[in-house]
Amino acid sequence: MERIIIKGGNRLKGTIEVSGAKNAVLPILGASLLCGGESIIYNVPRLDDVEVMVELLTYLGARIHREDHHLRINTTNVEPREIGENLMRRMRASNLVLGPLLGRFGAVVISQPGGCNIGSRPMDLHLRSMKALGAAIDEKSGYIRARAARLEGADIHLDVPSVGATENILMAASMARGFTILRNAAREPEIVDLQNYLNKMGARISGAGTDVIRIEGVQELKPCNHRVIPDRVEAGTHLVAAAITGGNVTVRNVIPEHVEPVLAKLREAGADFEVAGDAVRINSGPLRAVDVKTQPYPGFPTDMQPQIMALLSLGEGTSTITENIFENRFKHVSELRRLGADIRIEGKTAIIRGRESLSGASVEASDLRAGAALVLAGLAADNTTVVEQAQHIDRGYERLEEKYRILGADIVRVRA
Ligand code: EPZ
Repeated sequence: MERIIIKGGNRLKGTIEVSGAKNAVLPILGASLLCGGESIIYNVPRLDDVEVMVELLTYLGARIHREDHHLRINTTNVEPREIGENLMRRMRASNLVLGPLLGRFGAVVISQPGGCNIGSRPMDLHLRSMKALGAAIDEKSGYIRARAARLEGADIHLDVPSVGATENILMAASMARGFTILRNAAREPEIVDLQNYLNKMGARISGAGTDVIRIEGVQELKPCNHRVIPDRVEAGTHLVAAAITGGNVTVRNVIPEHVEPVLAKLREAGADFEVAGDAVRINSGPLRAVDVKTQPYPGFPTDMQPQIMALLSLGEGTSTITENIFENRFKHVSELRRLGADIRIEGKTAIIRGRESLSGASVEASDLRAGAALVLAGLAADNTTVVEQAQHIDRGYERLEEKYRILGADIVRVRA
C-alpha cells in the first residue's frame, strides 16, 4: 500500500511540464490493433492505466517495447483471443478493444468490464452501436460475444455523447463497408487525436471535435507513428495546485483550447493567470465562490470535479458543484470533510461553504481524480495530511509528488 505525506502551507513556485494524455493514449493503443506492422506512439506517460492497456495488447499478441516516453508496437501477430475478467475488470477503458477487434477480425469475446468507484458505467451504447454496424452481439454469463462477417456503415445517433462509445464507433466504422454518420458524438480533444491517428493509418474520418462525425470505411489500414496530445486533466490539476496554494506556477505543454473550460471557471473565481503559447502562468490570490456544472466537452470536465471541489473548500462564500456525468462521483467529499471542508450533498449537487483554512488529517483516495484532489487539499491544509491508497493516483498521474516537490511542496511518498 502506498501513502503520500504532505506538510501543507508551501506556496508552489516554478515551472511544471504536463505529460501526454492518458485518455488519448488508451484509445490510440486500441486503434493500433486495426492493422499489422509496427507503429511508434510518442509522448506516452508512464501510468498504471497505460501499463494495463499494454498488458492487454500483449496478451492479444502485440509486441510492445517502451523506450523512455514512446512505445514501439508491433501488432502483426495479434489475434482476437477471449479476454477474461482478470484483464477486463482492472480498467474500464479495456473496452476500447471492442471496436478495433471487430473491425479487423469480425470477432470479439470480452468479459463485461464492470463498474468502478464513480458509477455503474454500462456499455449499452457501445453494444447498440456495434449492432447498428452489423455485428451480432450476445451477452451471457458476464461475457460479451460480438461477431460480424464484415461491418456495414450505418447512421448512429448516441443517446448521450459517450467518449468511449464514440471512440469504439470510429475504430469499428473505419473498416466497415460504406459510410457511417455518427450523431451526438462526444467532442473531447482526445477524439480529435484518435481521428488524426486513424486518418494517418489511412482511415477517412471527418468531423471529430463536433457532434457529427463522418466515416468512410476502407479495406485496409496501415501502421503509423503518432505523438499524443498533452493531458488537459493533468494540466487542470496543476493549475488548481497553484491556485489552492496561492502560488506562482507556469504549466508547460498545454493546448490552451483544451483547458479553456477550466480556465473560464478559474477566471470567474478571480484567479490571475496568463496564457502564452503552450504555457499557462498562474499567480493566484484568494478566490471567490463559483457554481460548477460538469458537462461533456466543452463543458466543465467531470475529471476535474474533485480537484475544483478541493479548491472551493477554501475561501469566501458558498459554491455549488453539480455532477451531471457520473452517478457516484462524490466519494472524495467525506475525505475532504476530514480535512475540515464544509460540504453537504443534495442529490447531484455538492454545496461547499468556503473555509479560511483546512487542517491536515489521514484521508483515503478512492479513485485517481479523488486522490489528486486530496493531494491538492493537503498542499494547502495546515499541518500534515496523509493520503492513503495513493497508488490510485498513479493510474492517471506520472510522479505527481515529485512534480510538486520540485515546485516547493513538502511532499513524500512512502510504501507502507
Ligand atoms: C471517458 O470515460 C474517460 N476515460 C473518463 O475519464 C471520463 O470521466 C469520461 O470519459 C467522461 O468524460 C477515458 O477516456 C479512458 P463516457 P468513458 O462513456 O468513455 C454513460 C479519468 O478519470 N454511458 O463518456 O467510460 C456513463 O455511465 C476517467 O481519466 C452509458 O450510459 O465515459 C456516464 O454516465 C474517469 N452507456 C456517461 O455516459 C454507455 O454505453 C459518460 O460516460 C457508455 C456510457
